[in-house]
Order: sequence, then C-alpha cells, then structure tokens
Amino acid sequence: MPRLKTLYRCTDCGGASPKWLGRCQACGAWNSLIEEADEERTTVVAPVSRPVLMADVDLGEFSTRATGIGELDRVLGGGLVPGSVTLLGGEPGIGKSTLLLQAVAALARGGARCLVVSAEESAQQVRTRADRLNAVAPNLYLVAETSLTHVLAHVDELAPDVLVVDSVQTIYDADLGSAPGSVAQVRECAARLVREAKERAMITVLVGHVTKDGALAGPRVLEHIVDTVLSFEGDRHHALRLLRAVKHRFGGTNELGLFEMGEAGLLGVPDPSGLFLADRRLGVAGSVVVPTMEGHRPLLVEVQSLVTPSPLPQPRRSAQGLDSGRLALILAVLAQRVGIGLATCDVHASAVGGVRVIEPGADLAIALALASAQTGQPVAGNLVACGEVGLAGELRQVSQTARRLAEAERLGFRTAIVPASSPPPPPGMEAIRATTLREAVALAGCLPT
Ligand code: TYD
Ligand code: MG
Repeated sequence: MPRLKTLYRCTDCGGASPKWLGRCQACGAWNSLIEEADEERTTVVAPVSRPVLMADVDLGEFSTRATGIGELDRVLGGGLVPGSVTLLGGEPGIGKSTLLLQAVAALARGGARCLVVSAEESAQQVRTRADRLNAVAPNLYLVAETSLTHVLAHVDELAPDVLVVDSVQTIYDADLGSAPGSVAQVRECAARLVREAKERAMITVLVGHVTKDGALAGPRVLEHIVDTVLSFEGDRHHALRLLRAVKHRFGGTNELGLFEMGEAGLLGVPDPSGLFLADRRLGVAGSVVVPTMEGHRPLLVEVQSLVTPSPLPQPRRSAQGLDSGRLALILAVLAQRVGIGLATCDVHASAVGGVRVIEPGADLAIALALASAQTGQPVAGNLVACGEVGLAGELRQVSQTARRLAEAERLGFRTAIVPASSPPPPPGMEAIRATTLREAVALAGCLPT
C-alpha cells in the first residue's frame, strides 16, 4: 500500500512544493498552490508494454463518428473518435449547451445512444430548449445531476456511446473534500471521466466555462488530460460564432467552424465571406476589404475607420475586432512614412461583423482605410488589399496570398493592392503591386493633395 503524504501543487504551472506558500516558487503565480495527496511509489512494477521500432508500429485506424453538424465535423476532421474526450470551452452564454444539444440529437438520430448530464440546468429547462431546437430524439437520454458518483452509476447502467457533461465545473466528487468548482475537483472529476471514456470506448464531451481572461477554469490542468480542446468564441452582440480546435490529437487544429445563432439554434455558415459583406455600402470613405485567413479558410472582412478632429488632449484610439497594438503601429507609419498625421484626431477602426482580425495581413487594409477616412476619398468598390506593413514603411508579403485572392475573385472583386513580391493573382483579378505603404496609398487614390 503506497503511503500518502501531502504535497502542494501549483494550478498554473504544475510545480510542486512540500509546504503551502502564497506564491509559487516555480512560476511566481500568487495563491495558486492547492493541496494534493502524493502517492510515494515504493514498488517497481515490471513493464507490460514493450518498445517496438517506429517503423513497426501498427498504424491501425481510428474510426470517427460524424456528428452530422457540418461545421463541427469540419473542425474535428470528420467527427468524434470513440474513447476520446473533448473539452468544449467558451464564455458563459456563447452557445456551448446549444451546440452540444444539437450535436447529440443528430448523433442519436444516427443510432448512437447518448446521455446528456446537465449539471447546471434542470431537466425541464433542457427539455424546453430541446423542443425549440428540434432536438428530441430517440436514444437521447437526459439526467440533471451534479454528483460524479451518480453520473458514473448512470453511465454504468445505460452504457451510452456518447456522454456529454455540462459542465465539468459543476460536477463534484463528495469524497474529495474540496469545494465544487475548485481546481482540484475539476481536475479529479475530469480525470475520472477520461478513464471511463477510455475503458468504455465512449465518446465524451465536457463543457468548460472560460473566465474573462480566456483561461479554462483550472488553467492548463484540463487541457493536457483531454484529447481535444475546442474553443467556442464570438461577440455576444453578434450572431456569429467561431469554433476552433486549440488542441486535437486526431487531426489538425487549422480548421475553423462558423455558426450563426438564430431562433432555432446554431446554423452553419457555408459562405462566411458573403455574410460579412452582405451589408457593405459602396463608395464610402474609410472602408476597405481584406482577404484574411482563418486557419485554412479565406475570409473576406470589411475594415472600417472613422477619423474626426478630437477635442481631447489625448485623442481616442479605438480598435474593435482589430489589434490595438497594430493600429498604433500603422498610425505611426502613416505619420512618419506617408505624411498622414492623425495625432490630433480621434481614430476608430473596426472589423465588421463581430469577427476578430488580428493577423498582420490586415495591416495594409487598415492603413488604407485610415488614409481613405482622413482624405474623404473612398477606395474602389471592387478592390481588396492585403499585406503587412513594416516600420520602415515597406510592404511585406503574407502567407497564402493566392488563396486569399482566389476567394476575393470568387466574390466579385477585381483588383488587389498587394506587396510587390506577391505571387501572380488568379485569372480575373488584377494585382496592383506596391513596395511601400506610401505607394499603395497613392495607388488607391488616398494620398492627401
Ligand atoms: P447556451 O447554449 O445556453 O450557452 P452556454 O451553454 O455556452 O452558456 O446559449 C445561450 C444563449 O443562446 C442564450 O443567450 C440564448 C441564445 N439562444 C438563441 O439565440 N437561440 C436558440 O435557439 C437558443 C437555444 C439559444
Ligand atoms: Mg450552458
């Protein structure tokens, strides 16, 4: 019998300490140490596994079960893998429960036996929502339960193919002693559910709320024990929701899923660029479209800016859906290298549609939008711009220019302002090449006279 001794472990970095300290000595985080029982290993067990040559490893095949929700399957690279554990993280109210309810309903209709454990909402609340989502399916079971022991008993009895636990933060194990929702509870309950998933080859999905700073509660403690971490994001004031894989043991993490939250739940968005550009007004100064990349997916997004004389000693700079650091950089380059100084102006810049465009590839479009807003000269309606702006005022090529321009061409754009070194544009699209930002601003017709 291993002897138990007490150990304190940092919930941020996992560093251990023999006694409690207010600050982790490994990573410097405050108040992050929690007590855990450490099994002192006294026996050496003979290994059952045997190393084999890399070339001899049986490739096998993991089968995936498509959920039937196209955008979800796209992100997962086909579907959910039996025995795998997926953590779906996102801010409260973003639509995690809705997405999973729709997914299990589709899985259940496909013949999978599904169990939803609702640890936050009552069975009636979930049923009401399921009615609205048309998610009442045969083979779909529901239990409102917060005790891990009871959940495991239900799993034992029902032997589901798919288990959803909503959320892992509200499940607790009474034997552990620590409070429900504490890092120790969340980690232990998740670890227990992971074991169960592996033993039963049961697809398991855990819902995890993320805190304001974007970390899953019990930061990093869950991410390494699950197979897949999905992040569900979006601006709550917009209908658009983005699903990404942050970690995925069965495929890439580059795909992006797009949904729109509507009356009947989440609907996949097959043509996001069209959606973002639907309400665009042509001929307005300060608007430029950028073909940006979200993983492997090209997305056309309108960047808008407004420049007004400021009454304030420290004029406002607001960046919505854009990186404020990059906005500051672009303003500095515009002032120093192009001769467009906005130091006494309030500057508002935004990516339209509730999407976040933080890649450097959007620099040129932001710069042109600012120049256009300042001079009042709109850029051509069928023009896109992409490229990174350097501190010397030079333009730099960005990755996958060809794919970006092909998507722009598909949506009817005919000209692209790009850095001089960019590859040739697709047929039907003319490339206007510029080596410096000043040149690009002049070519777009936005240089002040
Ligand atoms: P929910 O799935 O409960 O979010 P989470 O589980 O991430 O906390 O979604 C909550 C929001 O979604 C809620 O504000 C209402 C909205 N919603 C709709 O707009 N349409 C719908 O059909 C449903 C079910 C929810
Ligand atoms: Mg929920």
